[in-house]
Amino acid sequence: MNKAYSLEFEVNMLLEAILFRYGYDFRHYARASLERRVLNRVQLSELNSVSDMIPKIMHDPSFFNLFLKDMSITVTEMFRDPFVFKKIRESVFTQLKTYSRVNIWHAGCATGEEVYSMAIMLKEEGLLKRTQIYATDFNNHSLEIAAKGIYPAGKIKLFTENYLNSGGTKSFADYYQAKYECAKLTESLKEHITFANHNLIKDQVFAQMHLVMCRNVLIYFDQNLQNRVLNLFEQSLIHRGFLILGDKESLDFSTVKDSFDKYQYPERIYRRSAYV
Ligand SMILES: C[S@@+](CC[C@H](N)C(=O)[O-])C[C@H]1O[C@@H](n2cnc3c(N)ncnc32)[C@H](O)[C@@H]1O
Repeated sequence: MNKAYSLEFEVNMLLEAILFRYGYDFRHYARASLERRVLNRVQLSELNSVSDMIPKIMHDPSFFNLFLKDMSITVTEMFRDPFVFKKIRESVFTQLKTYSRVNIWHAGCATGEEVYSMAIMLKEEGLLKRTQIYATDFNNHSLEIAAKGIYPAGKIKLFTENYLNSGGTKSFADYYQAKYECAKLTESLKEHITFANHNLIKDQVFAQMHLVMCRNVLIYFDQNLQNRVLNLFEQSLIHRGFLILGDKESLDFSTVKDSFDKYQYPERIYRRSAYV
């Protein structure tokens, strides 16, 4: 058996074992990066091969948790891509203001920075009180950090710059208290946020959403899984609801392409089409 074929075969076996034992289906994650992360885990755990991971995964849930962490890239920041947040503030919020209640779903929220950024903008635009934000991820460790809203003080300089570049007009220092090496975000921002575990591969829709934000998550999925997830978002959104993706993600090759208009394209803001 040649080396590449053997790796593909062993990884397939591993993914089947995980699906059977834990109900998590990683078979449709983008293959090259998945294989890279599996091989990295083999090395870190001083195993001889991917096959050696299978019995460990089957019998040791804590080893599976390590694998879950490997599969969850949680890089994020507040007001990441400030121009996107600026456009949300200037263009999407004018539409959201026409509703008496607003529901927002952040899917794949990682450690929550993007969610708090949204809450700050909603507050400044007088929308927070009528909004419910659902922030989900399948990584419980990230969700715990998100729920605390405490971040390293060293990141505050970047967050402040991003906030200003996104059209923020207040002092960013109003939104956190610095303590030792940490910055704790203001408690009141959390009042309208519910953090919950949700696995995009297998869990169901969130109904009646006005806006779904899922940035830098679909890049880890193959087209099949992207279609599954995008259908989930389409079903979750109200008529004329908004969908926001990451800058390397688009609906172009997806099965829901015709159900959405490109509302603000460089920012990857889509809107459910009026005609479907
Ligand atoms: C790079 S972060 C994106 C964070 C944030 N949305 C941003 O753009 O800054 C990707 C997140 O997707 C989550 N993720 C990956 N697969 C997932 C799945 N099947 N269900 C839910 N979340 C998933 C990871 O746990 C990780 O927190």
